[in-house]
Amino acid sequence: MTIPQSVKLVEVGPRDGLQNESAAVSTADKINLIHGLIGAGVSYIEAGSFVNPRSVPQMADSDQVFAGLRSTDAITLAALTPNLKGFERAMESGIKEVAVFASASEGFSQKNINCTIAESLTRFEPLMQAARDQGVAVRGYISCVVGCPYDGMVTPQQVDLVSRALFDMGCYEVSLGDTIGVGTAGHFKRLLDHLLLRTSADKLALHCHDTYGQALANICASLEYGIATVDASVAGLGGCPYALNATGNVASEDVVYMLKGMGISTGIDLDKLIEVGQSISSLLGKPTNSHVARARSNAA
Ligand code: HMG
Ligand code: MG
Repeated sequence: MTIPQSVKLVEVGPRDGLQNESAAVSTADKINLIHGLIGAGVSYIEAGSFVNPRSVPQMADSDQVFAGLRSTDAITLAALTPNLKGFERAMESGIKEVAVFASASEGFSQKNINCTIAESLTRFEPLMQAARDQGVAVRGYISCVVGCPYDGMVTPQQVDLVSRALFDMGCYEVSLGDTIGVGTAGHFKRLLDHLLLRTSADKLALHCHDTYGQALANICASLEYGIATVDASVAGLGGCPYALNATGNVASEDVVYMLKGMGISTGIDLDKLIEVGQSISSLLGKPTNSHVARARSNAA
């Protein structure tokens, strides 16, 4: 398999990043962040979520965020939706693409969405039907594809079962979430060796949290399998409120820098992306988690 010539970067900072920040970020600042990302050439942004606002108060204003966004047909602005209620809220905001999220492990499923894996898949069915009726594309996430903070290690077979269910119900792509960032290139190779027996690489994405510093190595190993969609978060923001020791996603700046060096295009302007990361980091009052952004500011 040859490595892809271009990679689609799915920017999850405004959702996965900000859902885990304790500092309050105003709606206007979220809108500025997303417009900054669009200005840097990011073409797919997960801009919010329509979950129970008591579970994740940071995302309670997602409808106002979407109402304030300027977009074009070339840009996908998506939202996370856990059930039909979330989907209906997303439709009221005029969203064209949503994502459902399941877990490969029972422990995380219970803590994150308060139900078993099987129940979560059943909950998605009316959402998927409504999405089909309204021509809305649905992406699927699987969390804890390598390890779970509650159940320990997870096997490729567990991930395969959930991914097949998500594809069967109509997800066009499944993003493999290493929620707690424990996976290594070896884990991802074993996982992809298994999943690619039945699925093609163009239907899979990688969603690495960088807790153990393995994310770039994992992405690099997965490129060799033809994976061409990578989730990342500007400034490496965030984590998951239901996986307490998990840090943010791999920083978008670091992914873009690495891909550029490998001759793989993303359509993203690295300098502008770094600026966006610096401004959200200073707004949050914390240093960036991007190695590239840190190196650039030390060199300046
Ligand atoms: P539940 O308590 O089982 O659901 O929550 P319920 O149907 O019994 O509803 C309870 C209350 O929530 C009701 O309100 C519902 O109306 C309300 P009440 O009657 O008590 O006033 N409710 C909603 N409100 C607004 N929007 C909705 C909605 N649904 C129910 N969509 C539920 C189940 C999934 C809703 C809840 O557990 C929840 O919202 N969890 C939040 C999960 C979350 O956002 N986690 C973080 C994102 S996932 C992630 O980060 C991982 C990922 O990045 C990949 C990776 O890294 O692995 C994607
Ligand atoms: Mg995540």
